[in-house]
Amino acid sequence: MTATEIVAKVKNLPPVSHAALRLVNLLDQPAVSNDDVVQVLKCDNVLTAKLLRACNSPYFGLEEPVASVDQAVLILGHQQILHIVLSLAFGGAMAVPLPAYAVEANEIWRHSLTTATAAEIIVKDGIDMEVEVPVAFTIGLLHDIGKLVLSQALTPEYQTDIRTRIAQGQLSRAEAEKEVIGTDHCEVGACLLQSWRLPEEIVEAVAHHHQPLLKPRPRLSAVTHVANCVAHLAGSAPGWDAYAVRVDNQVAEVLGINADRLEGMVVHLRESFDQVDQFMSMA
Ligand SMILES: [Fe+2]
Ligand SMILES: [Fe+2]
Repeated sequence: MTATEIVAKVKNLPPVSHAALRLVNLLDQPAVSNDDVVQVLKCDNVLTAKLLRACNSPYFGLEEPVASVDQAVLILGHQQILHIVLSLAFGGAMAVPLPAYAVEANEIWRHSLTTATAAEIIVKDGIDMEVEVPVAFTIGLLHDIGKLVLSQALTPEYQTDIRTRIAQGQLSRAEAEKEVIGTDHCEVGACLLQSWRLPEEIVEAVAHHHQPLLKPRPRLSAVTHVANCVAHLAGSAPGWDAYAVRVDNQVAEVLGINADRLEGMVVHLRESFDQVDQFMSMA
């Protein structure tokens, strides 16, 4: 089966708000202003209510309660607001269990947020590549979304076949999926994001997060690949996916990440687990 056939066949595609998709599309524009973010949020009352509740949570420790989106964006800045809103918007869709991946409710959601936080840390650490923090965060959040779709197409026979090939052939999960089904969660996720008309660089990064594109220049898939590995190394390995812990040497070299630096990122991510917990509790 192809990724397109699977996305067309699966009945329960992850639900996501129109406003969230518009916010992701904003990331593709050269300069996003506070006003741009406010205008999109104002069209979604549910998301706005959730955002205000989140901003007023003890985590942010604001002296005065925030009463409007304009105020929230002004106080916390649009980058922080984007991270909160996208976490809230995609959180509901990702809080589901994925039996075909041996993933319990909330686990893929936690892993996605952890990878998003790892991507934020990697970019802020100053890698050899120009990337906007909210873009890296968003791709981290969405990188495994294909699993939500593909898990519905994995019959018990497929699951056994995939597990056997991983065990016997030392294949990665994505490689085994490709051998058995003809596609993998990376391609299926990219196909879903494409159907939502999200920016091409985000679609591409999700499509290649296990086999990053480095030529003619490193692309966002490289950052996403390292973020996913850092998340796994920090202990976020849902289901039986612990295979993905090895960072591709070439990718690490191109981004200027040596073993010490990688270890520092893992430590930093562990220290940021509190942020992951907070974002989960806000949804
Ligand atoms: Fe993945
Ligand atoms: Fe992952």
